[in-house]
This record gives sequence, structure tokens and C-alpha cells, in this order.
Amino acid sequence: MTDLRTRVRKAVLPAAGLGTRFLPATKAQPKEMLPVVDKPLIQYAVEECLASGIENIIIVTGRGKNAIEDHFDAAPELERFLEEKGKRELAEQVRRISNMIQFSYTRQKEPLGLGHAVLCARELVGDEPFAVLLGDVIIDGAVPATRQLAEVFEATGAGVIAVQEVPREQTRLYGIVDAVAEKNSRWGERLLRIRTLVEKPAPEQAPSTLGVTGRYVLPPEIFDCIERTGRGALGEIQLTDALVLLAQEKGLYALVVEGTTYDAGDKLGFLKATVEFGLKNPEFGEAFRDYLRSLKL
Ligand code: G1P
Repeated sequence: MTDLRTRVRKAVLPAAGLGTRFLPATKAQPKEMLPVVDKPLIQYAVEECLASGIENIIIVTGRGKNAIEDHFDAAPELERFLEEKGKRELAEQVRRISNMIQFSYTRQKEPLGLGHAVLCARELVGDEPFAVLLGDVIIDGAVPATRQLAEVFEATGAGVIAVQEVPREQTRLYGIVDAVAEKNSRWGERLLRIRTLVEKPAPEQAPSTLGVTGRYVLPPEIFDCIERTGRGALGEIQLTDALVLLAQEKGLYALVVEGTTYDAGDKLGFLKATVEFGLKNPEFGEAFRDYLRSLKL
């Protein structure tokens, strides 16, 4: 049995970013609410939490993000309206969203970086391990990425972050790890011990091509590490820099997660996610496939 010190029950979803990569769509609307097929981006992360055994989600919001709270709140008028119209299934879907899981919210008052956003959740997380999910990354696979990480944490007691191979010319978009394979683990070559990390290095400076893909399971000691972290890349308090301290002081793993990753915070990545989730849709996937085939590309 896993005890409370290693059970991962809470998740932090930073959602205070300004979404500048997606302007003008994000001028008056949070990027987390952009829909991929029929669900807002952030709901994919919430459903991943649910499927990973998380019981409590802490969303770090900022100015102009009220739509996120409304989305996960009850909507009695809408539910009643749908029921009166005989659309019981839709009413049930809407109800399910607000009953999914326990939500708490906290605000990041200034956009000081991802590390700072995570630090804003300190009181709500308390003294226990927690997951961090960056909502603009969707990882689609048989076992949810957060579950894969939680299993490593529960077995080793050490923090672990998701990585995947990225093209060397794209290292500037990611945190990149310098890591060595952990011998004799049940994850084989997929589990690595992190020596250090670099946030968004130039290709010639990148210590590897293993990029951090927006999923983390961390011990509460990370908060002290963030507090000791000054401003790094882009003048922001970077989670990556705090992870360097954690790796040195407590140890930290990287797990090459299984699954297909979409960076839906980027316009092209968003389109790819939309097309692939559209193709998988049970209701109209086939019709969409026929439509795509009919295009003279
Ligand atoms: C953040 C992290 C970076 C990570 C990336 C994954 O950067 O700082 O280390 O690789 O997410 O998407 P962002 O994409 O928010 O600039």
C-alpha cells in the first residue's frame, strides 16, 4: 500500500499565462478555454488528472480567466434548459464537468513565470507530493502521462518529470535534461536520473534532445527550491531552475513517457490536435476522414 507521503492526490494546473502565442484569439478569452473539437483545452488536463487518481485540482488563474472557473462550476439554468428540451444526455455531460473532481483556485497576481505560478499553490498543496500539468500540452496514450509519473513517484519517493525526444533544432522551445539511464529499474531505459536541466537552450548548447513535456510529479520540497530561485530565462522565475536545485539536493528522475504529445498552445500543434481528435471522434470521425481524403492536397 502506498502511504500519504507518496500518494499523489493533488494537481496544480497553472493557467495564468497571457497566451501571447495565440493572439488575437486570446485577447479576451483565456487560451485554456480554446476548444479542441468539443472540449476546452484545460478539460483534457482535468480528465487526465481524473484518470490518474488525482482527487483535488488547484488551478492557478490570473486576470481575465473567470471563464475557467465558470466552466468547472455547476450551471443549473443550462442543465434545466437542456432537460426541458429532452436533451438529457447533454445535460448529463454538462453536470458531469462540475462534479468531476474537487477544484480550488488561487491567483497569480503578476506573470512572473511558471515557477512563481506553482509557488502560488503552496498553501493549497500543503506538505504532500503533487502533480503539475501544463494545460496547453495534451498527451494522448493508453496510460495517462500523470499516472505514469505517479507510479514512479510512488515506487521511488523521488520527483519525476515527463520527457520526450524533440528535434535538436527545437530545443529552444523546451526545458532540456542532462540525464543518465537508471540501472535495473522496471522502466528500463525510459527512467533516467537527472544531473541537471537547462531552460530553452540553443541547439548547440542543449545537453541532450530530451525535452520536458509539461507533466511533473514533485515533492513539497520544490517550494523551497522555487523560493531560492532568482529570475532566469526571459527574466522569469523558471520551474526548470528550481528543478535543478531539487535534482542536486533530493534527486530527480526523468521518465520518457508513452503517448502522443501535442503542444496545443502553438497554432500548428493546436491544428494537429484538432485534426487527430476529430478523426477519433466516434460521432463524426469517419465523415471527417472522408472529408480530409476528398481534399485535393
Ligand atoms: C514550459 C517550461 C518548459 C517546458 C514546456 C513544455 O515552457 O518552462 O521547460 O519544456 O513548458 O511545454 P513554455 O512552453 O510554457 O514556454
